Amino acid sequence: MSIYLDYAASEPINPEVLATYAEAMKTVGNPSATHSFGQSSRMMLEDAREQLALAVGCDRSEVIFTAGGTESDNLAIKGLFWQKRAENAARNVIVSAYVEHHAVIDPIEWLAAHEGAEVAWIPVSDEGVLDLLWLENFLAARGAEVALISVMWANNEIGVINDINAVTALAAKHDIAVHSDAIAGFGHVPINFKASGLSAMSISAHKVAGPVGVGALILARAAKLTPLTHGGGQERSMRSGTMNAAGAKAFAHAATLAVANMQRHNAHTQALVEKLRAGVESAIAGARFSRGSAVAMTHNAHFTFEGLKSDGLLFLLDQAEIAVSAGSACQAGVDRPSHVLLAMGRTEDEANSCLRVTVGLQTTEAEVERFLEVLPAAVATARSANPT
Ligand SMILES: Cc1ncc(COP(=O)(O)O)c(C=O)c1O
Repeated sequence: MSIYLDYAASEPINPEVLATYAEAMKTVGNPSATHSFGQSSRMMLEDAREQLALAVGCDRSEVIFTAGGTESDNLAIKGLFWQKRAENAARNVIVSAYVEHHAVIDPIEWLAAHEGAEVAWIPVSDEGVLDLLWLENFLAARGAEVALISVMWANNEIGVINDINAVTALAAKHDIAVHSDAIAGFGHVPINFKASGLSAMSISAHKVAGPVGVGALILARAAKLTPLTHGGGQERSMRSGTMNAAGAKAFAHAATLAVANMQRHNAHTQALVEKLRAGVESAIAGARFSRGSAVAMTHNAHFTFEGLKSDGLLFLLDQAEIAVSAGSACQAGVDRPSHVLLAMGRTEDEANSCLRVTVGLQTTEAEVERFLEVLPAAVATARSANPT
């Protein structure tokens, strides 16, 4: 039977959420319509907003539903940057780190290429930890020029958790808006938007066992942004387009379950990842656990294997009916080194030799044991057939 160990790419939809979603999709009517059909769609949407707000720790009016994490990141980064720079032309700098997901890096690089934004990347250690002293010094020198800081809550490739409160505390001294991509972190680490000091935060349903194509941008009531879509003025005019009430309801249900089950999930996945790490390190010479001892999400085990390219290894594991990834799913099929590992100072060869194993509540010990049984031969074959 096939074994799925790629939860960070997309978590299989929870059967309870699937039932909620299927039922909700039967609801007729545009949530903006005034007739009774529309009103029941609207009620479903607003209930979902309230439920999601509870799970995230924000006000219901701060939830802007979107069509996924990438859209939320783009809306936050472009929208906040444009807004801040329009208010004060001196604020033209965006600060982020090159370990971010491409849904953050690419809009930032787009703003640099097309809108004249200046970008400063926060250095990271060889375990993927942000250099906050560098950030403090940079802001002390140039804080008045910074429009926006974007720092992810937790890294989707190697699992490292960032200290968001430390970042917002530094930013507050210079009145800078901070966005966090919490798409990988939400549901895996305790998150309270209000307590975080953030201006904006992105989340996505399919990372918490909800449906693909539904997300949200949590936008603080005091924060303003320039919208990217113009049309019907839905979602406080921040995101025009007919709202996906059924998707919102399924997302809110999935988020509520993820938060409620977090402790159980983390205890279960921590034990599996410890077994994985010990098994890989003892059986395979030249394997390196990427995040070392950095504070990280419990369900992520990311390794590099000296002397091989990950695409060959992934192919062999897939033939053995084990689904894992090299890192971000968005880069799968693209033969290029992990930008995250490169930012951590690893060589191109190392950054080309990654394997990310991510587990969930449904993952069993037997599945991890099967992976550990198959891996040594797959690594040996990949090293001889597909070396770096
Ligand atoms: C950290 C992070 N940001 C953004 C995204 C993109 O989210 P979505 O797939 O919902 O567009 C992902 C998904 O892989 C992610 O892990």
